[in-house]
Amino acid sequence: MSAKDQLKKSNLKGGTVSKSEANRRLSRFQIYIGIALLASASFGIYLLVTDKSLWLQAVSHAYGLVAICAIDIVLGAGNLLSQRRLILPSFGWAVLTILLQIGDIATASQYHMSVQNFATYLFGLWAFDSLLAVQGVVLIVGLSTRSYSKMLVKKKRVTYFDMGLGNSRRDFIQIGATIGGLFALAAALGAWVVLSPPASSSVVPPPGNSTGTTNTSNLPSGAVANVRELQAGVPAYFDYPTAGYTNMLMKKANGTVSAISILCTHVCCQCQYQSATQELYCPCHGSVFDQNGNVLNGPASSKLPSVQLTIDSNGNIFPVKIVGSGPCVQGS
Ligand code: FES
Repeated sequence: MSAKDQLKKSNLKGGTVSKSEANRRLSRFQIYIGIALLASASFGIYLLVTDKSLWLQAVSHAYGLVAICAIDIVLGAGNLLSQRRLILPSFGWAVLTILLQIGDIATASQYHMSVQNFATYLFGLWAFDSLLAVQGVVLIVGLSTRSYSKMLVKKKRVTYFDMGLGNSRRDFIQIGATIGGLFALAAALGAWVVLSPPASSSVVPPPGNSTGTTNTSNLPSGAVANVRELQAGVPAYFDYPTAGYTNMLMKKANGTVSAISILCTHVCCQCQYQSATQELYCPCHGSVFDQNGNVLNGPASSKLPSVQLTIDSNGNIFPVKIVGSGPCVQGS
């Protein structure tokens, strides 16, 4: 250590920190922030690749996460490349990311789920928890960096300029513009995610039916199909109790008709009926149900709710109530 450093060291807090040591420590903080942001991007990418419900149910959430990962990578790499002026924007970005991710829970209705069920699902994902945790690390390290820098500045031995936290008025303007831009981007992302309509049905229409849903134009009010128009073994679909809550109507060879919800009891993705196996497959995480809604393969753990039906003397079919409960539909 040079004599100059020795002198500065003696003038700083407790006589234990030199300017070069202070800069080394700040660089370490910065490396932690860079690594945490890159880790956050990795967890986000893992979610994008593995969780199909993001793409099938609310695609705006998926694109939002893509944007978050991209910004994480830019800021993370910038920190690792010693752009010390990115510490403050990284801190601000971590706050926004945490708010956006937790705020995502408020959009549970886009997944046809209650807030509680959606929160349980999200916090049950290790990658989601890890993403929040590493953004929390960015917050803690950012705060530590700030208080450490303040302490040094207070001692009047090192300035923010010396530490590369700001070099000129232009740098402050750039930092302000970066933070402002990130806020604007986050606000736009949040608005887009909240205002985007739920993804439309991912049901594969049965052969011979272009929409997959029953035609109710010639039926009395409230009827969803007529028994005479149904083919045995060929599913038809109707929404009940409200739009977006799709059910599958099935006429058996013996003429009996039954209906089950096709919203998977895991995270409410729409299942697809495969006539070859007479099973329903969930495209999101692979659950399989039999024709009666019983679980054949998880991760779903509960049976698909059914719809109680009544049929009038003309064969018109009316839904009466949901029987059974899941995260998406509740029986009455
Ligand atoms: S929504 Fe996850 S398996 Fe169906």
